[in-house]
Amino acid sequence: MSIRRAPPGASDDSAQEGAIAPARRLKDRYDGRAKVTGAARYAADFAVPDVAYAFLVQSTIPNGAVTSIDSSAAEHAYGVLAVLTPFNAPRLPVLPLQPSVRRNLSVLQNTEVHYNGQPIAVVVATSLDEATCAAALLRITYDVQTAKLDFMGRLGESRPIKEPGRDPADTSRGDLSASMAKAATIVEETYTTPIQNHNSMETHSTVAWWERDKLNLYDSTQSITGDQQTIAKVLGIPIENVRVQCPFTGGGFGSKGSTWSHVILAAMAAKAVGRPVKLALDRNQMFGPVGCRPATVQKIRLGASTNGRLLAVQHNVVLHSSVMEDFLEPSAFATRMLYSSESNITTHQVVDMNLGIATHMRAPGEATGTAAFESAMDELAIKLKMDPIHLRLVNYAEIDEGKNLAFTSKHLRECYQQAAEQFGWSRRNPTPGQRLEGTEFIGCGMATATRHATRSAAQAIVRILQDGRVFVGSGTQDLGTGTYTIIAETAAETLGLDPSLVEVKLGDSTLPRAPASTGSQSAASVCPAVRNAARQALLQLFNLAIADDRSPLHGRKPEDLGVLDGRIFLKLHPSTGQTFAEIITSNGGKPVEAIEGAEPGADRASYTANSFGAVFAEVAVDRDTCMVKVRRVVGTYDIGTLMNNKTGLNQLIGGIVWGVSFALHEEAHIDPVFGRTVNENFAEYHVPVNADIGQIDVTVLDIPDMLFNPVGARGIGEIAITGVAAAIANAIYNATGKRVRQFPITSDKIMDRR
Ligand code: MOS
Repeated sequence: MSIRRAPPGASDDSAQEGAIAPARRLKDRYDGRAKVTGAARYAADFAVPDVAYAFLVQSTIPNGAVTSIDSSAAEHAYGVLAVLTPFNAPRLPVLPLQPSVRRNLSVLQNTEVHYNGQPIAVVVATSLDEATCAAALLRITYDVQTAKLDFMGRLGESRPIKEPGRDPADTSRGDLSASMAKAATIVEETYTTPIQNHNSMETHSTVAWWERDKLNLYDSTQSITGDQQTIAKVLGIPIENVRVQCPFTGGGFGSKGSTWSHVILAAMAAKAVGRPVKLALDRNQMFGPVGCRPATVQKIRLGASTNGRLLAVQHNVVLHSSVMEDFLEPSAFATRMLYSSESNITTHQVVDMNLGIATHMRAPGEATGTAAFESAMDELAIKLKMDPIHLRLVNYAEIDEGKNLAFTSKHLRECYQQAAEQFGWSRRNPTPGQRLEGTEFIGCGMATATRHATRSAAQAIVRILQDGRVFVGSGTQDLGTGTYTIIAETAAETLGLDPSLVEVKLGDSTLPRAPASTGSQSAASVCPAVRNAARQALLQLFNLAIADDRSPLHGRKPEDLGVLDGRIFLKLHPSTGQTFAEIITSNGGKPVEAIEGAEPGADRASYTANSFGAVFAEVAVDRDTCMVKVRRVVGTYDIGTLMNNKTGLNQLIGGIVWGVSFALHEEAHIDPVFGRTVNENFAEYHVPVNADIGQIDVTVLDIPDMLFNPVGARGIGEIAITGVAAAIANAIYNATGKRVRQFPITSDKIMDRR
């Protein structure tokens, strides 16, 4: 993939290379109208002719094997087209698990059962009701084995993680015991976070159909390219025979970042019945077969000198892990670099469980890690009788001490200062339990937010049409985050056009490839590619005009030309020029087109790129019921360039709402005998509703990070969930004098500590 230099004349006039001109901001969502009018189609919305409906049948035991499935009644039920089971499903090629197919899928290739809820059959019928009804007629027998379901009781059996990934699971810097021996104040506590399940508004859905040996899918995914690769490998067909379309994804949060069993099963079912098949998961099926955030037990030891300098930092994490596949929730990764300290030890181990596979969930690592670590920092500040912001400033990390690397850009001090001022932190009473309003104790707390930034190679196509409008395409996808919007804006700005003249197409694997919309990387990866492609298309227009002896720009140099409002002109004589439409028309009317890429530079390993923020919370805790209300949250974030006010700030607000959920509400309860998630619905798996959310104020510093990428954006999708749970826990302590270290902080836990 080539990264070409931009044509000299095409760069904007701003002093800083690539800085986003503020005039182009504050635009509405590109897809807002399509969303509110229902024109936006999600995977299951597509009316594919002759479609049949699949129902996913799940195991009802947590461990063992399926010994028989009597499907005769189901097969004879009205409307039923096929019943796929481990006993009749077509064999798939046995492939070594490739890096892109790491997932241990349940696609009816054997009879093993590893968790309650595992897919074990698929019923296909002419209607969803018929399929659902027939599934109830299956007679299934099992060989039931003892299951591993007691996480807390088996912590002693924890083991190292297989294939931890890019960064090591364990790190050690300095001499921890020597540092600890010098410490005047020590905090040593254990924090726990529960299993959480992704619950995007749109459940996972797939429509699959075959055209001879070619497979087509509408799939709700965070990665059409990953989908395409995984499906091709698992089914053993050439990648070019798989086309994945996903114009809109109704949220994903990591759960749709990889391809789960139901996608493959939909394709297998479509082949079996010879017609298109739609398989949409029910809400309860979101709890198990499509990932979860693992439960964590986090032991933290902090040793500090009397003036608050951190000498020793120790963070030992034990995670639950599915017997099917390990997942490293990197809870202590941020602990390695968040503050300066003399010595630092982090470890991650797992305990095998008969549960569905754990996976990435919004800010994997930082979300769980900061909940614990930033609570511990608050406990340290209290022991030191020090203001918690001051403690963080005393230990401010100028570099990433974990990797001994400079940051691409870090402005966390400004975040503390701005957010504290906006929140009114100086008016807080540091002594707990002092502020009673009616029957409620009021308290305030704060925490640091952080999330590492990633960027991958991406490509885009830009086509300038004869009428002066522009088409932009890229094989990325929009999860509702604003990808359409910022791509339209980036192209419009590079081409000096109004964004309303730009048409964007995403979510089709026939478009130039782009990475998964995971790890908050889409803006930083795709926008530079869009800009390069737009510049290249513009350069082609310049050259057409320059070569055209009928053009007023004939014979000029590209660097003498400027562009504004769809017109190319002589910089020294702006009234001399031609519109895009005139240039293309005068050259035969053929659109001008460029496909370009962008990728991280070779120096990516010489920096640490992280976003930072400061988050403050005010809570009210009822004196009698211990019910917690989060009255206010104020967050200030250093996320590099803010690409779009509306979509960017929306994501930050959404992240904070999820942080409130993490702090107070969310928890999957596992039946200790049967291993099924007991509360697999929105009545009992609590997520906040409007009444649970008070005032949220977010601001960003908006300082471009030009070392990270040419648009200066570090990504915004995940950081705002981080820190929030700790800020709320710290506020509850300030309100009541009670420290709860087991998330979510429900009323019973506060009451227990009376
Ligand atoms: Mo994310 S949790 O990388 O979608």
